[in-house]
Amino acid sequence: MAYINENFLKLQHRYLFAEIAKRVAAYKEANPQADIIRLGIGDVTQPLAPAVVEAMHRAVDECAHSETFRGYGPEHGYNFLIEAIIAHDFTPRGISLTPEEVFISDGAKSDTGNIGDILAAGNLVGVTDPVYPVYVDTNTMSGRQISYIPCNEANGFMGDIPATKLDVVYLCFPNNPTGAVITREGLQRWVDYALKNDCLILYDAAYEAFIQDADIPHSIYEIDGARQCAIEFRSFSKTAGFTGTRCGYTIIPNEVTVNSLNGHRVALNAIWDRRQCSKFNGASYVSQRGAEAVFSPEGQRQVRATIAYYMDNAKIIRQGLEQYGLKVFGGQNAPYIWVRTPDGIGSWNFFDRLLREAQVVTTPGAGFGAAGEGYIRITAFGSHESSVEALKRIGKCL
Ligand code: MLT
Repeated sequence: MAYINENFLKLQHRYLFAEIAKRVAAYKEANPQADIIRLGIGDVTQPLAPAVVEAMHRAVDECAHSETFRGYGPEHGYNFLIEAIIAHDFTPRGISLTPEEVFISDGAKSDTGNIGDILAAGNLVGVTDPVYPVYVDTNTMSGRQISYIPCNEANGFMGDIPATKLDVVYLCFPNNPTGAVITREGLQRWVDYALKNDCLILYDAAYEAFIQDADIPHSIYEIDGARQCAIEFRSFSKTAGFTGTRCGYTIIPNEVTVNSLNGHRVALNAIWDRRQCSKFNGASYVSQRGAEAVFSPEGQRQVRATIAYYMDNAKIIRQGLEQYGLKVFGGQNAPYIWVRTPDGIGSWNFFDRLLREAQVVTTPGAGFGAAGEGYIRITAFGSHESSVEALKRIGKCL
């Protein structure tokens, strides 16, 4: 007889973005003429950069000939990409990494969830609240207990460092969903906490490319002691339009160790490598060649222009909502704008109202956790025209 993993029965009925997609589809079915503007899920709208497209075309052509065809790639990812990542994203920030510490993936969502495979079910996992639902869902699937760190206006959406001991903590900066960023000193406090309490930090830096202020850290490894206690996740999805193409990477420094029941410390790098070899066959060669091209001079120019385009949207949305008298957060070093609902309306109610009256899709803050109640999230990943139009329509239904 087969039995279900009971932990899956503890999950909310639907994944947040699947629930939203369902509500939007139902609305569209009932209102086929509706011109819906989608600023809900953080899916990008601008096409892949020309340098990426050219590199991917070349890669496809290579695979069309037996002399240059590529089959299974290295489990860690191709060296050409790993070396480009280290040289571009880490060396200039004074961070030294070996190629073995970088694992190419099919995106940060999978890795932030899958990393739980190598951690014990008994670990107490801390998450900030509101939070990207993947951390909560995947740890619930593994039967782990979750401790919520409330992030609110009073603490600048930072959350206080817990007085009690967590075994693992997820941090995401720039933050999804609030758009908050952490200072070097703030991040140092988390690293100090982790070292003192033997806590593993899972640092989601998927939005680091959107940081505008020079003194905000892009990587946790800019912080002293982080190599001993932190794993970092990165993504090409939002940086370079890879939400459909899929490619990301995870850094596990050799010094990161955790306990085993026999009293020895175990290096997570080797265990993750072992897990990946059995469960993962890598991101495609074509994706990895495309990702490599992000780091070429023209790739960088193009990708930076697209990021500037999205940040311009963020500014327009942010300033426009402020002019309407709404209380607005984020959107300055992050592509997400976190908006307090007017007159204390519940976030799902406000979401429904904006969908019905403005045909604008947002994300209800309560979908990210209890502390998100009373807020909605708007993404800057739409087109310029749709962001301006959405703002106009929202203004009319306030
Ligand atoms: C979001 O909207 O929070 C993100 O797009 C989800 C994701 O990256 O998986």
